[in-house]
Amino acid sequence: MRILVVGGGGREHALAWALARHGHEVIAAPGNPGIAELAECVPVAAHDVPAQARLAGERRVDLVVVGPEVPLCAGLADLLAARGIPCFGPTAAGAQLEGSKAFSKRFFARHGVPTADFDVCESMEDVERALARLGGEVVVKADGLAAGKGVVVCGDVASARAAARGMIVAGELGEAGRRVVIERRLRGRECSILAITDGERVVMLPSAEDHKTIFDGDEGPNTGGMGVVSPTPVVTPELAERVRREVLEPTVRGLRADGIDYRGVLFAGLMVDEDGAPSTLEYNCRFGDPETEPLMMRMAGDLAPWLIGAAQGRLPDEELAISPRAAVCVVMAAAGYPATPRLGDEIRGLVAAAALSDVRVFHAGTRADAGRLVTAGGRVLAVTAAGDDVDAARARAYEAVAQLSWDGAQHRRDIGARGRGA
Ligand code: AMP
Ligand code: GLY
Repeated sequence: MRILVVGGGGREHALAWALARHGHEVIAAPGNPGIAELAECVPVAAHDVPAQARLAGERRVDLVVVGPEVPLCAGLADLLAARGIPCFGPTAAGAQLEGSKAFSKRFFARHGVPTADFDVCESMEDVERALARLGGEVVVKADGLAAGKGVVVCGDVASARAAARGMIVAGELGEAGRRVVIERRLRGRECSILAITDGERVVMLPSAEDHKTIFDGDEGPNTGGMGVVSPTPVVTPELAERVRREVLEPTVRGLRADGIDYRGVLFAGLMVDEDGAPSTLEYNCRFGDPETEPLMMRMAGDLAPWLIGAAQGRLPDEELAISPRAAVCVVMAAAGYPATPRLGDEIRGLVAAAALSDVRVFHAGTRADAGRLVTAGGRVLAVTAAGDDVDAARARAYEAVAQLSWDGAQHRRDIGARGRGA
């Protein structure tokens, strides 16, 4: 098949690699220097929806796989559907599950998907009413996409009020925060589960655990994700089954009941209480980044039949073949990340790192510059390794990281080490 992969980060590099190694012709837009080693890259921005649709038509691709949420929320899948081009990724209506917290919370309430009690607020009067009802142990969430900055976990009424005022009145997050969700703060263990759906059936992907903060030991500010281990003991088979029954299947039924034909990834962020009951914190409408990098390392067969199957409303009947081996991805980030990443530092050691067996160095934020490769984003490389178990994969990933360097490079030393005394 000829497949257009929309995006240019580590997730898209991993998807392009997984598809190209099974003989598919991959075009990426915009792609990146890593993707350019295995696919044609066309300089069209991921969020330029009309230009992406035009490219897909001109190149007569069999399938478009959309990496990021922004083009999905902006209706890329709708435009492709109108042109008869199969798209892996939901329409704008479906992408609201990620694009609007108010939409998703009301959707959960309407369809019995477990979630924390909440109110949607558009004014400080609404906020006072919500806080009087819910108390101060709440989480304030901007309605719209806020690049990871839209959620404030609060311990008392004063801080919740301040967070809501910053968003609604001061407009700190622009339009994204003019409306907020205030919800009860939950306690428990967090985990995420990714699944693929064709609008009817749900195929769960292997478990993967992100490490969100910048520093070891889960310290420091949140990032887009500093590393992932797959599988993770956090998602037991029993929990996965409960999430399928109590969260994913009701979601797909609810989408259908609402007239939304959802074809793509359902990526649920969950809080699990001490009785093992999951509650839905959020949905993403796309593959996770960096979750996708280790997941692609674990695909034992060709993923394309699942992607095109979902896009055409009919997933294959077989089981998705997953390698029993583990994978660990360590993100190497630029100096100053996450607040103010510095760009343009020269990256060294790629050839030596890539020469290690069981290692793939996915490019997340890189740029070719006069024969050199330089940092071009907060997260720069997603260094991913496979191994017979998590410890072996982890050791191999860090061997590769040790080969790589640039001024101010940062990475966590404890990816995949939770609960292992490291
Ligand atoms: P979200 O984007 O909605 O997943 O929120 C980002 C992060 O905020 C989550 O990963 C949790 O750590 C935290 N969070 C969100 N909602 C809640 C909640 N109701 N209770 C406790 N923590 C939450
Ligand atoms: N790694 C979290 C995300 O993709 O949103």
